[in-house]
Amino acid sequence: MNRLAGKVAIVTGGATGIGEAISRKFAREGALVVVNGFPEDPVNDVVRDILQESGQAAAFIGDVAQESVALECVAYAVKTFGKLDILINNAGVFPVMELIENYPLEAFEYLLKNNVRSAYLMTRYAVPELKKTRGCIVSAGSESGFLGLGENAVYGGTKGFIHAFTRGVAVEQAKHGVRANCVCPGGIDTAWTHKEHGPMKAKHEQMIISGTPMGRRGSPEEVANIYVFLASDEASYVTGALWTVDGGITIGKGPVGLEAKDAADAAPKGELDLKHSMDGATSMIRGREPQEGLKAP
Ligand SMILES: NC(=O)c1ccc[n+]([C@@H]2O[C@H](COP(=O)([O-])OP(=O)(O)OC[C@H]3O[C@@H](n4cnc5c(N)ncnc54)[C@H](O)[C@@H]3O)[C@@H](O)[C@H]2O)c1
Repeated sequence: MNRLAGKVAIVTGGATGIGEAISRKFAREGALVVVNGFPEDPVNDVVRDILQESGQAAAFIGDVAQESVALECVAYAVKTFGKLDILINNAGVFPVMELIENYPLEAFEYLLKNNVRSAYLMTRYAVPELKKTRGCIVSAGSESGFLGLGENAVYGGTKGFIHAFTRGVAVEQAKHGVRANCVCPGGIDTAWTHKEHGPMKAKHEQMIISGTPMGRRGSPEEVANIYVFLASDEASYVTGALWTVDGGITIGKGPVGLEAKDAADAAPKGELDLKHSMDGATSMIRGREPQEGLKAP
């Protein structure tokens, strides 16, 4: 349970969905975690839960797609915990499902900002610190970065960027002892893949389940487990990997998931008591200037 003992980690978007699981799992594994998120995210809740479990964590609230905030986030980690060993580029948004001819320019720009610009800025400003500790970066890729995503071609494109960006960083930084890898999930049980919480419709949910050989979504904790491994010293010879954690969706052909009977029962229970799995970024409200009717938590 101490695979990240003494390591200082930043988790961007670390208060909801997969990010909450990463923050809490990392703390259980002995990491000192800087939990980041927008002011609208339950960042303080997650930090409080970690501290209550005798873990170590600190909140850094802010939009890491803003240059000054990204710089400040890295400086805050070093000031608070003395160094930086791990950057987790997990922040991302999923506000619409639309055919490309209807895809709003505003949504395209919102995705570029939060999925691409945030990872670029955080990586750029973290690397000088990671060189000092021979640390590592793990970023959120996606099966859609390989396969594309119908009715969200833009989202898949942002994840394709993350894959290639990670490999470029991995190549150039290897000589400094800095590793860079991607975790590439399939459909995961967060707000993004549930019609009640985000832009996906019932037909999209069905497409995920039937297209996944294991016949179910993954849990945030099942994804966090891969982040732990890639961020730990156990992965010391792994760099430039695009590590799928996708129930087989990238190898399935057709509706093979329909054959996975009782798949929901087969999901492991896990050890984390997650509270914010369905509180994710599925509209274009977060990180915007305060608008009328929008209340900070
Ligand atoms: N859920 C899935 O099925 C799935 C599949 C593949 C990849 N992923 C990737 O995993 C990551 C997490 O997804 P999730 O489903 O847990 O979603 P989520 O919305 O629960 O988590 C993303 C978090 O990042 C925060 N965030 C976004 N932009 C930010 C910014 N600029 N500054 C600070 N915080 C910011 C959001 O507010 C949110 O709390 C994303 O990068 C996503 O692309 C998710």
